[in-house]
Amino acid sequence: MLKVVDLKKSFNNVEVLKGISFEIESGEIGVVLGKSGAGKTTLIRCINGLETFDSGEIIVDSIKIKDSNDRKKIRGQIGMVFQNFNLFPHFSVLENIIEAPMRVLGKSRQEAEKIAIDLLEMVDLSDKKDSYPFELSGGQQQRVAIARSCALMPKILCFDEPTSALDKENIQKVQEIITRFKERGMAILIISHDVAFSKEMADKIIYIKEGLLVNENEVEI
Ligand SMILES: Nc1ncnc2c1ncn2[C@@H]1O[C@H](COP(=O)(O)OP(=O)(O)OP(=O)(O)O)[C@@H](O)[C@H]1O
Ligand SMILES: [Mg+2]
Repeated sequence: MLKVVDLKKSFNNVEVLKGISFEIESGEIGVVLGKSGAGKTTLIRCINGLETFDSGEIIVDSIKIKDSNDRKKIRGQIGMVFQNFNLFPHFSVLENIIEAPMRVLGKSRQEAEKIAIDLLEMVDLSDKKDSYPFELSGGQQQRVAIARSCALMPKILCFDEPTSALDKENIQKVQEIITRFKERGMAILIISHDVAFSKEMADKIIYIKEGLLVNENEVEI
């Protein structure tokens, strides 16, 4: 479902990604593990199209992505959950989730609400649909962010450090929810520092050190 081939990326002549290759299938969780500055966020931003890359290939469901024209072909197929959630503060939980299906997919409000209500059930937040982000705990906001990222029914879902701001109980909850989406056949890519979380969740661990893939014993976290 997601294939990355020899991906390279520099910032101001400093090579941050030095040729990264891996694959994730539908229904599989891949975790990118590496220490701070290894290039994890850069990798996920390139996959999402938030950052351009210098060479290599990103292939999404057999479609090769090189430029913004190719990006249009896979619009909505890659979801992203940001580290700081990025919820719209002036929108209720429900409004946060229906925004993309209405704007991007042209769904009616009624259709979009149906999608949102199903997703809120999946993340165990049905009772919070009319709350605003500031009224929710960090763990609840994280779950709204997950529901919102899934509102376009992406085939690939990416997370940047989904557990870094959460306590043990909320980490457990997020793990359960990610597993639900995996079971629905999504390909999931998670960036993490957390070795225990990674080993528990991953079908595949991608160890990265200074922009290169390495073996488990070479990586410091
Ligand atoms: N927009 C940018 N301009 C210049 N340098 C950048 C930019 N974004 C990232 N870098 C550099 O690229 C390197 C990798 O950064 P990246 O954010 O991918 O690391 P990371 O593995 O996600 O780290 P962390 O675990 O701390 O989040 C760092 O040295 C960083 O300073
Ligand atoms: Mg990062």
